[in-house]
Amino acid sequence: MKHVDVHILRALRAAGGLGVSGVELAQKLGVTRAAIWARIEELRRLGFEIEANPHLGYRLLSTPDVLLADDLLARLGRRRLIGSEIIVFKETGSTNDVADQLARAGAREGTIVLAEAQTRGRGRLGRRWFSPPGKGIWMSVILRPRLQPQQVTQLTVMCAVSVLEAIHAVTGLIPEIKWPNDILIRGRKLAGILTEMEAELDRIDYAIIGIGVNVNMDACDWPPALKAGATSLLLETGRWIDRPALATALIQQLDRYYHLLKSDQFSVIAREWQAHCTTTGKRVVIRTPTRIIAGVAEAIDQDGALLVRTHDGQIERVIGGDVTVERD
Ligand code: BTN
Repeated sequence: MKHVDVHILRALRAAGGLGVSGVELAQKLGVTRAAIWARIEELRRLGFEIEANPHLGYRLLSTPDVLLADDLLARLGRRRLIGSEIIVFKETGSTNDVADQLARAGAREGTIVLAEAQTRGRGRLGRRWFSPPGKGIWMSVILRPRLQPQQVTQLTVMCAVSVLEAIHAVTGLIPEIKWPNDILIRGRKLAGILTEMEAELDRIDYAIIGIGVNVNMDACDWPPALKAGATSLLLETGRWIDRPALATALIQQLDRYYHLLKSDQFSVIAREWQAHCTTTGKRVVIRTPTRIIAGVAEAIDQDGALLVRTHDGQIERVIGGDVTVERD
């Protein structure tokens, strides 16, 4: 049977304190009790604390701070587009590169690639993304949206709102969004989004959205040059955050908001984005590869582009670039 561990973990979670017997598990999954025992032993080896009680059966006492595909699949609901396939690496160069290769080879929409560590994590504008082992969520999602290439910013906006909601659900924090893809707290960067795509002139073939969330990083974890502008959920809450729970919440929110986007309700997402965005209403300077635009960021449009009123009163539509928000 495929994914036996997913079913075992799901049954253990559903049973909670009551426990579930080996016989029941074996019957449900159509395998022997010995096979269940062997899987329980393997789960224990992976760090799951599972009690075997003669009266109550197996009980899940605690779970490890490790990202495991079967554990994430067990935590997630059954019917989902995002997270239908999950692949986790202990270490990889960049999850965006792995996802790109998979997408090129035909991987299905919603496939997720996660890594405990990245050796060549990439940020926007050719920057490096610091991704130490076991401290963050370094994740990429393969999407095959029916959008035109110029609408790709919709995906970044959808993703920013999903990240925000997931962080709020798990930690209670309410971060701010800086257009189009920075998630900040107290002006420091908590998470970033790197959207890349393969497209024809008139349609997106596939898009990879890469999400990096600084979760349990301590101030001393960052190289000195990056320390000043960055923060983590651990630093902001003073608590160690359960990464598998956060990854699960993130996948659930992405599934929810991508569904909205696909059913032509980007305006709902855009409203939520506006409500948390600290860029609109501010004076901004945006550097694109070809020009510099200065003015007041007024809104985002139906494609996720930023509308900037420049000094001569014109509205400029900006789809990307390096944004500096001027202090009031
Ligand atoms: C940025 O703010 O510059 C975007 C950062 C995106 C980082 C993530 S981590 C997972 C994925 N893989 C990468 O190499 N980058 C993205």
